[in-house]
Amino acid sequence: MRRLNQFLALTLLIASSPAANAAQLYGDVERGREIVGRWCAGCHSTGGTQDDRIPSFPTLAKNLAGNERAIRAFLMQPHRPMPPLEISNQQIEDLVAYLRSLATAAAP
Ligand code: HEC
Repeated sequence: MRRLNQFLALTLLIASSPAANAAQLYGDVERGREIVGRWCAGCHSTGGTQDDRIPSFPTLAKNLAGNERAIRAFLMQPHRPMPPLEISNQQIEDLVAYLRSLATAAAP
């Protein structure tokens, strides 16, 4: 946990350094994975199995590959039956990074 905090502090430091574009946030795959485990995996499977009505994360990653703008827009709004998320822009970027990593892993 301490290491994680140090890592987060470092990431924040880098992200907020003057060299970084102030408007640009960088997603972190591991934080994205953590958010998914906490908030999303109860409904969306992260493995191969899937409920007919709820796409799994690998499926989402495949469907949404190259359409990150749509993912961001989607995540800013709650989706039924999901309760509204209090999600920050940083967390959205983390989720996008996680989905991007899945799409890359799934590529032939
Ligand atoms: C309570 C169950 C539930 C939870 C929790 C949940 N979802 Fe969903 N999600 C759904 C259902 C059902 C659908 C399909 C229906 C729809 O598109 O609204 C869906 C669809 C989606 C889609 C597809 C949108 C599209 O247009 O293809 C994305 C992306 C998504 N969820 C991301 C997430 C993320 C990220 C989280 C966690 C932060 C999450 N969901 C948590 C139930 C849930």
